Amino acid sequence: MTNDAGSAFSSQSPSQSPASILCCIACGAHQETPAQNFRCHKCGDLLEITYPGWKNSPAPATTLKLVWLSRRTSQDAIDQSGVWRFRELLPALRDVEQAITLGEGNTPIYELPACARSAGLRQLYAKHQGMNPTGSFKDTGMTVAASIARQGGFRWVACASTGNTSASMAAYASRAGMHSLVLIPEGQISWGKLSQSLDYGALTCQLRTDFDDCMRILNEVVQRTPVYLLNSVNPYRLEGQKTAAIELLEQFGWQVPDHVIVPGGNLGNSSALGKAFLEMKELGFISKLPKLSIIQAEGANPLVRAVRDRAGKNLVPQSAETLATAIRIGNPASWKKAVHILEATGGAVEQVSEVEIAQSKAEIGADGIGCEPASAVTLAGLKKLVKQGFVQSDESVVLILTGHLLKDPEYTLKFHRGDLFAGTEHEKEAAMLTSHQRAPMVLNATVEAVLKVLTDAERS
Ligand code: F0G
Repeated sequence: MTNDAGSAFSSQSPSQSPASILCCIACGAHQETPAQNFRCHKCGDLLEITYPGWKNSPAPATTLKLVWLSRRTSQDAIDQSGVWRFRELLPALRDVEQAITLGEGNTPIYELPACARSAGLRQLYAKHQGMNPTGSFKDTGMTVAASIARQGGFRWVACASTGNTSASMAAYASRAGMHSLVLIPEGQISWGKLSQSLDYGALTCQLRTDFDDCMRILNEVVQRTPVYLLNSVNPYRLEGQKTAAIELLEQFGWQVPDHVIVPGGNLGNSSALGKAFLEMKELGFISKLPKLSIIQAEGANPLVRAVRDRAGKNLVPQSAETLATAIRIGNPASWKKAVHILEATGGAVEQVSEVEIAQSKAEIGADGIGCEPASAVTLAGLKKLVKQGFVQSDESVVLILTGHLLKDPEYTLKFHRGDLFAGTEHEKEAAMLTSHQRAPMVLNATVEAVLKVLTDAERS
């Protein structure tokens, strides 16, 4: 038995659920059935999901808070999902029990004391979305969009990816008995992510191009054949990803942090989290908004340029380059949604260098937590925002860590061995990283050799 609230928001049966509609973000046109590429029939812009039912039915926030908490003790898989636990604020499935879930969400919040000191803050928190079943935040969106795909009778789902979407999609598709097609840029994603896609059973194609071009090709593929697109232009993905923000607020006892800091790639996640905060305020769960700031790598900074050079009015695609391969994206699909979130929450946009990313990743690791390179842009960006006075030392800050440390072990090994920037333009700047590097040692197999190393470490 699922645990449902006794209210207008109460269950997911079609007669009671709040109806959701697909609405174009530019011209406002409503769509009954989305096109294969999830673009507006009229103007070609992105769609988002809205809930007209919420207007007439004031949100029973206090009731819902209790219902969501009580589901934590339920034995039902749907209640145990950290996404479907919040199903009153998600699009309804015909039968919620049919949702494809791997127990996603339910991710921890950690305090990062050493990182706080390094950034000049009294306290710093990280919500670790890398603790999801496939090791990234993508699972929270995938459970919703893959469930909608299966409900729609699709046999094939597909995505272009820098590695995490593909890993997640492959897993959820297999669980749902659907086939999955993955397009990834050859040589530009980590082995960990590629191996996940293979093991979960996806048809995996490494294209000799970059992510943005993979996306272009996939958009044509889905127009020609009935394959369901699972990139974040699919607004059902963003609805699932929204729940990380709801869960975060719940974990903070509904106290709103001053700042939430998110990495920016294709800009779906920042849009999703921002949408959740706006909705939570509209529904009376919270009375103020956190400032949501977005951080990009210097070599993949189209949003930073759009905001700084063009007042957020248009975005010029670029050829992207960064070792944080997850966010190596030059033509982000959801940039308009992200600009809206920056404006609505008063957040900042910032860029960070490759060396700053590497240092921040090592610092997050040294706090006993760890994350993949793309996630570490949040700490690197925070340091800049503190220096600029945008973030004050006594404010509450939450970094969204998007992927698990083990997603990209090659980067971590190269970093600690001192090879990451060898022979690159960053070599000189990278000299400052030595104190963070812990290269593994090869020793003779004797007790003395180990004791000597220990003694030396004590002395240094
Ligand atoms: N962090 C990680 C670990 C990611 O994998 C991604 C995106 C992002 C941040 C950026 O999120 O695109 O919503 O702005 N990864 C996508 C992928 C593009 O294909 O796995 P975004």
